[in-house]
Amino acid sequence: MSKVTTSYLLKMKQEKKKITALTAYDYPFAGMVDSSGIDIILVGDSLGMVVQGRETTLPVTMDEMIYHTSMVVRGTSRAMVVGDMPFMSYQSSLEQALNNAGRFMKEAGASAVKLEGGAAVSDMIHAMTSAGIPVQAHIGLTPQSVHQMGGFRVQRDEERLMADAIKVQEAGAFSVVLEGIPSSIASKITQRLHIPTIGIGAGAECDGQILVLHDMLGINNRTLPKFVKKYADINEIAINGLKQYVDDVKNGTFPSPEYEYK
Ligand code: KIV
Ligand code: NA
Repeated sequence: MSKVTTSYLLKMKQEKKKITALTAYDYPFAGMVDSSGIDIILVGDSLGMVVQGRETTLPVTMDEMIYHTSMVVRGTSRAMVVGDMPFMSYQSSLEQALNNAGRFMKEAGASAVKLEGGAAVSDMIHAMTSAGIPVQAHIGLTPQSVHQMGGFRVQRDEERLMADAIKVQEAGAFSVVLEGIPSSIASKITQRLHIPTIGIGAGAECDGQILVLHDMLGINNRTLPKFVKKYADINEIAINGLKQYVDDVKNGTFPSPEYEYK
C-alpha cells in the first residue's frame, strides 16, 4: 500500500475528493485508524487532555510527543503521520523550531509536522519547509493560546483568519487546519487557497475533516464540544466488559476449566 503524500493530498483537493483525518496516540489505535482508510493521522497534542487527563495542552513536552508519535508510526502503513509541535517547542527561535521539527522526522519517523498560528509563525514554516519538512498549519481556535483567547472560543475575525491562511500558504505549508470558525468563513478560505483545508468545527465546505479520536469513539466519558459527532461508545463497551470480569472473579465463574492448564 502506498503512503499518502503531500502531492496526493493536493491532488485530492483539485479533484474535489474529501480528505479524512483523525488523531491517534498509540500503536493499537493507529492500526485501527489506519485500517479504516483514513488519509492523515495526527498525533495531536490533544493527548495532553484526552490521554494525560490535563485541563489544557500547554504542559505537553517534546519528549512525550516523540514517544507517542513513534508508537503511531509503528502502527501505521498507509496514512500520513503528522506530529503536532507542542507549546513552546517552536516559538522561541528558528533554530529551536527546526531542531524540534527535525526530531519528529528523525526520532519518531513522522512524515510531517503541525504547528499552531498564522502570520506569527510564517518564518518558522518557511524555515522548516526549506529544510524539507512538510508543515501543516493550524489557525482559528488554537488551543495553545487558550489563555490569550480567554477560553476555547469560536474565532470570527474574518479578515485576520483570511490573512493568516494566505500567509501560511505563502510560507510553504502543504495544508492548514481550520478550527472553531464559522462555516461561511471556512468556506471562503477553502475557495481562496490552493492547499487543502482540514476543518474541525469549521463546517462542511473544508477540503477535509479531522476529529479527536477519543471524542468521536466515546473513549473518555467527557462532555463533548458541539462539533463532535460520537460514532461509538467505547467507554460503555469497555466498562461493561470490565464489570463482567470483576463479577466473574468474585463469584468464581472465571477462570472456568477451559481457561486452565491441565
Ligand atoms: O491536537 C489535536 O488533536 C489537534 C487537532 C484537533 C487538529 O490539533
Ligand atoms: Na493540537
